[in-house]
Amino acid sequence: MSVPQKYRGRPIEELISAGYYDPETRTVHAITGTELHVHSRDWQLEGPLRMLFHVLDPAVAKDPKNLIVYGGTGKAARSWDDFEAIVDSLLTMDSEDTLVIQSGQPVAIWKLGKHAPRVLMSNAMLVPKWADWKIFWELEAKGLISFHQMTAGCWAYIGTQGILQGTYETIGAAADRHFGGSLEGRLVVSAGLGNMGGAQPLAIKMLGGVALIADVDKRMIQRMIDTGYLDTWTDNLDKAIDMALDAKERRQATSIGVLANAVDLLEKLVKENIVPDILTDQTPAHDPLSYVPQGLAVEQAEQLRKSDPEKYILLAKETMKKHVQLMLQLQARGAVTFEYGNNLRKQAYDAGVEDAFKIPGQMEYMRPLFEEGRGPFRWTSLVGDPNDIYKLDDVLITLFEKKNPRLVRWIKNAHQYVKFQGLPARVVYLGYGERALFGKIVSEMVRKGELSGPIWFGRDHLDSGSVASPFRETEGMLDGSDAIGDWPILNYALNTAAGATWTCFHHGGGVGVGFSIHAGFGMVVDGTELAEEKALRVFTVDPGSGIVRHAHAGYPKSLMVAREKGVRIPIIDRLEEKSKRVIEEAYREGRISRFTYERVKKDLEEYEARKQNYRAPFNT
Ligand SMILES: NC(=O)c1ccc[n+]([C@@H]2O[C@H](COP(=O)([O-])OP(=O)(O)OC[C@H]3O[C@@H](n4cnc5c(N)ncnc54)[C@H](O)[C@@H]3O)[C@@H](O)[C@H]2O)c1
Repeated sequence: MSVPQKYRGRPIEELISAGYYDPETRTVHAITGTELHVHSRDWQLEGPLRMLFHVLDPAVAKDPKNLIVYGGTGKAARSWDDFEAIVDSLLTMDSEDTLVIQSGQPVAIWKLGKHAPRVLMSNAMLVPKWADWKIFWELEAKGLISFHQMTAGCWAYIGTQGILQGTYETIGAAADRHFGGSLEGRLVVSAGLGNMGGAQPLAIKMLGGVALIADVDKRMIQRMIDTGYLDTWTDNLDKAIDMALDAKERRQATSIGVLANAVDLLEKLVKENIVPDILTDQTPAHDPLSYVPQGLAVEQAEQLRKSDPEKYILLAKETMKKHVQLMLQLQARGAVTFEYGNNLRKQAYDAGVEDAFKIPGQMEYMRPLFEEGRGPFRWTSLVGDPNDIYKLDDVLITLFEKKNPRLVRWIKNAHQYVKFQGLPARVVYLGYGERALFGKIVSEMVRKGELSGPIWFGRDHLDSGSVASPFRETEGMLDGSDAIGDWPILNYALNTAAGATWTCFHHGGGVGVGFSIHAGFGMVVDGTELAEEKALRVFTVDPGSGIVRHAHAGYPKSLMVAREKGVRIPIIDRLEEKSKRVIEEAYREGRISRFTYERVKKDLEEYEARKQNYRAPFNT
C-alpha cells in the first residue's frame, strides 16, 4: 500500500505499507503471523499492539471508522491521531518502558523496568460529584476525555463470543432455576442485536429455546445473520410472533429477529396476551443518546441525535419509561423478567416508573459464580492461528471432563457455533486456581513450541472482583456494600503490582457514566520465565480479589472457597459472624430475593458443617 506523505519516516509507516492500517479510509486489520513489528522484538509490546489492531478490525468493531468497538460509543483510542501516537509508541518503546494512557490518549512514557506493566490506562474517570453524562459530554466535546466501555479501551474485546458465553451462563442459570435446566419449548423475548445483544439468539438456541429479538437497525440484524448468530428475520411483527410461537409449539431451538422497536414488540405481546417464558433486554439504555425512541427509524434517529440531542434524550427516556412499564405488565402475567445490565430500570425509574426495580437484575443469576471467583477469562492467539485455540480447547476438555460438564458443554458448543472475529479467541468461565493452572500449561506449550505463538489472556471487567456497579454487578450485595469503589481500585493495583502486561481502570462501562467503575488487564504469555511468573501471580490475585471481595460482603460460599483454597484473609473469623448477620438483614430489608436468601442460608449451613476442618487464619 502506498504511504501518504504525512506518515513517511514515522514508525507506523511499516504497518501502513504492510496493509494493516489505511489512514485514508481509517481501516485497521488484525496483525497476524510470527514476525514481530515492535523494534524491541518483545512480545510484551507486540501483544498490546496486536490487541489494539484486533479490537478495531472491521470483523470485530461495531463502528471502526469512529474507533468505536462496542457498547454504544466505547472506543479503543480517543482519536485517530491518538491511535497513531499509541502505535508509534509501542513500536519504538524498549522492554523496560511503560506507556501511560489517559482516556485513550498517550500521555507519557516512563522507564519502570521489566517487572512493570508495559501500558497503564485510566479511561473516562471523573471525580464522583461531576460524574454524569452531561458533564462528560461537555468535557468530551473539549477533547479532554473519552468513553471506553469495559473492554474497548482495554483492548480486550473479542467480538460477540465474549458476551455469548456470559449470556449462555446467565440465561442458563435462569433456565436451571425456573425450567429445570432446559429452554426446550420455551420462548425468550428480548431486544438489541448489537455487539453484545447479538449474542442472545445463539445463546438461547444453544440452551434449546426459541429467541424472538427486536432491533431497529436492519444492518445489525443482517450482521447477526451473516455471523450465524441469528437464524432468520422479518420486518413484520405478526409474522415474527407467529414463527416464534410455532417453533415453541414444535420445541424447535431457533432464533428469530424482527425489525422493530422493542416497545412495539412488547406492546403487541401485551395486547395479544402472549407471555414470554423469559423476558429481558439489551438495547443500549445505559446511554439515552444511543437508545432509539419509539416512532423513529434508524436514519431519523441518527439525524435527530445530531440536530437536537436534548429532544432526542427526552424522547428516548419516554420510550424507556414505556419499555419498563410493558416489561412489568408481562412480568405480572408470569414472564421470568430481568434486566440485562443496561441500566434500563434506573432510566425508567428516573422518568417516573416507581416500581421499575420490581424487575431484578442479572446478578440474581450470576452472583453465585462470582462468589467463587469464577468469571469471563479469555485468550487469543496473537499470531492468529485458530488451531492454537482448538488445541487449548482440548486441554480444557481433558482437564474438566469429569469436574465441570457445563464448562465442557460450552467449549464443545463454542467450537461448533462460534465464528472467530479478528484474532481467534476463546472465553471460558474459569475460577481461582483453574486460571493459574491453565496459564502454566499454556506457558509451557508456548515455550516448547507446541503452539504457533504467544497467547494473550485477559477478561471482561464484568468479573468477580474487578467492578463496582450498584445497578449491575454489585447490585444487592449482602452487606449493602454495592457502591463501595475501593474493590476495583484494589484489583487494578493488584494486577499492576503483579506485573500484568497492561492494566486499565475505567468508568461508566455497561451502565453509563456515574454508575460504575471497573478494572481490567491484558497478559501476554510468551513462553519466557518472566512472563510465566507474572501470569501466575496475575491469574491468582485477580480471581482471588473476587473471592476476598465477596467474603468481606458476607457470602458464606466465598468464605468456604477462601478457606479451602488457601486465600489468606486476616479477619476471616469476624466475617463468619458478619455473614450470619447480613444474610438476615439483607432479606429483612428486601435487598435480596427469597431465592437468594435460601441459597446463601444453605451455603452457610454447609460452611458451618465443614468448619471443624478449617484452621484459624494465623495458625501454622
Ligand atoms: N450486564 C451485562 O453483562 C451486559 C451484557 C451485554 C450488554 N449489556 C448492556 O446491553 C446494552 C447493549 O449493548 P451492545 O454492546 O449490544 O450495544 P450496541 O450499541 O452495540 O447495540 C445496541 C442495539 O440496540 C438497537 N436498539 C437501540 N434502541 C433500540 C430500541 N429502542 N429497540 C430495539 N432496538 C434498539 C440498536 O440498533 C443496536 O443494534 C448496553 O447497555 C450494555 O451495557 C450488559
